[in-house]
Amino acid sequence: MKRQQIAAGNWKMNKDYKEGRDLAKAIADGMGNSENLAILGVPATHLKAVSGIVKKVANLEVAAQNCHQAESGAYTGEISVGMIKSVGAKYVILGHSERREYFNEGHELLAAKVNTVLEKRLIPIFCCGEPLAIREADTHVAHVKQQLEESLFHLKTKDFRKVVIAYEPIWAIGTGVTASPAQAQDMHKAIRSLIADRYSVAVADETTILYGGSVKPANAKELFGQPDVDGGLVGGASLKAADFLQIIDSF
Ligand code: PGA
Repeated sequence: MKRQQIAAGNWKMNKDYKEGRDLAKAIADGMGNSENLAILGVPATHLKAVSGIVKKVANLEVAAQNCHQAESGAYTGEISVGMIKSVGAKYVILGHSERREYFNEGHELLAAKVNTVLEKRLIPIFCCGEPLAIREADTHVAHVKQQLEESLFHLKTKDFRKVVIAYEPIWAIGTGVTASPAQAQDMHKAIRSLIADRYSVAVADETTILYGGSVKPANAKELFGQPDVDGGLVGGASLKAADFLQIIDSF
């Protein structure tokens, strides 16, 4: 897939059904003819309604925030990729640090989820990133390298090319502390060179790598202006239409 500029929102477990529809409508109405791709990562209960709303707008898509790795079966409470696809979503966020931490999602499980999403021809937005202690120990590149090796680098080139990566340092998520543009750029560049080593420079050049962690209207322009930062995965600031629209316009 071609490298793209993307502003992706991650609503997490926020907004009831009506609030979610209102937010999606406000973003859809405000997008106008924006050339940049925006994605709304919404709760499962909102996928169908929000897909219906974004259908009318070019460059606006929907993501699920998680999926099960099996195609179907006796997994009470879970949602399959086929179900997500059947209501019109094209993307699935995988490996978010909150899923890794609170739901014990490990690398093998994430690799299986990546496979299932790709088999169903949806696009994984694969999250990686280090906790504060690892950053302070200056081993963050090795940490992210391992996350990529364990859950993505088993993919054949043709499948890897479909994946969107989101680098999200955990110390910057929901904390108001943002990685500096230089810190984001350094890590994105490192990720691109890991991809070049595993696949090729051409594949690395066309991979979309988003930054996540306290992206807001005030810092999006500078972050997105870094040569290896292709956009953002935005939590808190994606819950207000005006803020998210400003972020979409920050390229
Ligand atoms: P934040 O969340 O923008 O609220 O820091 C980002 C994320 O968790 O994807």
